[in-house]
Amino acid sequence: MVQIVPMTWDDLPEVLAIERESQAEPWSERSFGEELARPETWAFVARLSGTWGEGIEMHSRGSVGLNFPTDHGMPLCGYVCFWIVADELQIMNIAVHRSFRRRGIGWALLSHALGAGVASGARRAFLEVRKSNGGARKLYEKAGFSKVGERPGYYGLDQEAAVLMEMVLYPPDSDPTSLFQRQVRSC
Ligand SMILES: CC(C)(COP(=O)(O)OP(=O)(O)OC[C@H]1O[C@@H](n2cnc3c(N)ncnc32)[C@H](O)[C@@H]1OP(=O)(O)O)[C@@H](O)C(=O)NCCC(=O)NCCS
Repeated sequence: MVQIVPMTWDDLPEVLAIERESQAEPWSERSFGEELARPETWAFVARLSGTWGEGIEMHSRGSVGLNFPTDHGMPLCGYVCFWIVADELQIMNIAVHRSFRRRGIGWALLSHALGAGVASGARRAFLEVRKSNGGARKLYEKAGFSKVGERPGYYGLDQEAAVLMEMVLYPPDSDPTSLFQRQVRSC
């Protein structure tokens, strides 16, 4: 089972190991430290905890649990960092350990972020993703994000363009909780 819990400083060695093998321009320890110190930053890690079963659980306290088969016993398998400023949420970083991809953990982390945004009054979510990052773009599209623009040369390393994506978390005057729950069930 995977449980999603707030990221702490103690998580950084494991987070950095995943970051370095996942991102073309990995964040440094200092970058993560600065994020954890920002009041607008939210950060969660996905931790393995024992055996496996089926499906996504929405726990009463708001954390998301996802069961999947594993006998690796690896404690930390992914993370997500995002900002919530006023009524906007910006996904800043998300990654899953290479050995645990395509098991729904990225989806669970993203859902958790969007759920936190909805609960905090965010109405729109934004992110930038490398144009060539087809897997991440599919994940975001599945969650409900749409392409709204491109930023040529956005990434300094190789000047690759960023695709800017946006998602309306819920239409004004609707019940945000029910919309979010529909999105989770549609997975
Ligand atoms: C992007 C990332 C976080 C996805 O994590 P994940 O745990 O593998 O994603 P999930 O298993 O939850 O995938 C959910 C859905 O997203 C889509 N998806 C995810 N990865 C995909 C891939 N490589 N190719 C195609 N579709 C993909 C699929 O629709 C998938 O559903 P399915 O498995 O039922 O088909 C992971 O690939 C990763 O860490 N990549 C490196 C870091 C990165 O690119 N981060 C994003 C920067 S913007």
